[in-house]
Amino acid sequence: MKRQVLVSGIQPSGKLHIGNYLGALKNFVELQNSGKYDCFFFIADLHSITESFDPKKKQKQILELAADFLAAGLNPKKSTLFLQSLVPAHTELAWIFNTITPMGELERMTQYKDKSAKAEIVNAGLFTYPTLMAADILLYNPAAVPVGDDQLQHLELARTIVRKFNGRFGRIFTEPKGILTHTPRVMSLRDSSRKMSKSDPASCLFLDDSPEEIHDKVKRAVTDSGSEIKYDPKEKPGVSNLLGIYSAVTGRPMRDVEKEFAGNTYSHLKERVAFALAEHFREYRNKKAGLMVKSAALKSLLVSGSKKASKVAEKTLFAAKKKVGLSP
Ligand code: ADP
Ligand code: TRP
Repeated sequence: MKRQVLVSGIQPSGKLHIGNYLGALKNFVELQNSGKYDCFFFIADLHSITESFDPKKKQKQILELAADFLAAGLNPKKSTLFLQSLVPAHTELAWIFNTITPMGELERMTQYKDKSAKAEIVNAGLFTYPTLMAADILLYNPAAVPVGDDQLQHLELARTIVRKFNGRFGRIFTEPKGILTHTPRVMSLRDSSRKMSKSDPASCLFLDDSPEEIHDKVKRAVTDSGSEIKYDPKEKPGVSNLLGIYSAVTGRPMRDVEKEFAGNTYSHLKERVAFALAEHFREYRNKKAGLMVKSAALKSLLVSGSKKASKVAEKTLFAAKKKVGLSP
């Protein structure tokens, strides 16, 4: 039987933090290793240039994310790993989607509102970001898209685009669903009402952080009033964030984790969380260091993955263009 397809991407815009990992990358690896899916994971470089960036650093960020993928456990023999800009079908289908997407739909996007409020100049790419993301997804006809919960609104728009396209031109796309982890929104270490985000590095624990840095950052993480350790994101957002991280990296259910810390102090919890994180990423850190010196191998991996992805993407693009009446 044909396996269901999964697609997801991450932007090469700086070091990955544990929000990216626990909301997305760790799940990519688990879904890949389940053997149940035909997986496409890519580096969303075209999305990453919608925000201010340094052209001299972009190439390095792309290769570093490729190293992150591999060090975390993605395997080019099991999944198609590729670079978005090496598959031109993405931008071509995005253009078609732009023509069927009302401006109003894009103006509603929370990420657009947040990012445009901070940007000096709001470029058109930042505005049409979600139609490119819809093309990224729909070219592969996936059953599902594993993402953190901040991307669900974009996914919903991709589903709307499916209905619009199919209704107007004929049925070729299907609506994919999202796959969330138990930690779909890891919160900032400094402000537990906001998500951990690359745009605020001080809020982040990076996958590359040394054990000392991890201990130091976790020690200074905000906690809540009172002293009881229990999972209650409303009343105890800081403690619950740490418990969520601990449960995810140790792979133990929250009930067990709560029992382990019953009657303990916040500082004990922080020590255990920091220790678990430092251990969990030990292998990743070592593997990544080895991969970072092999830039030629990383490049050729992306080139061959992109060739594989292009074969699938071009078929879908051709079918879509035919429906629209563009292909002779
Ligand atoms: P960022 O939001 O840090 O700029 P990306 O946009 O590249 O990172 O996100 C890559 C993936 O990580 C997406 O699936 C996104 O939903 C997920 N993600 C980002 N931040 C978090 C977070 N704080 N908690 C859980 N998942 C997250
Ligand atoms: N927009 C996503 C993010 O910022 C990255 C992304 C681009 C993506 N294209 C995608 C995720 C397609 C899933 C599917 O996290």
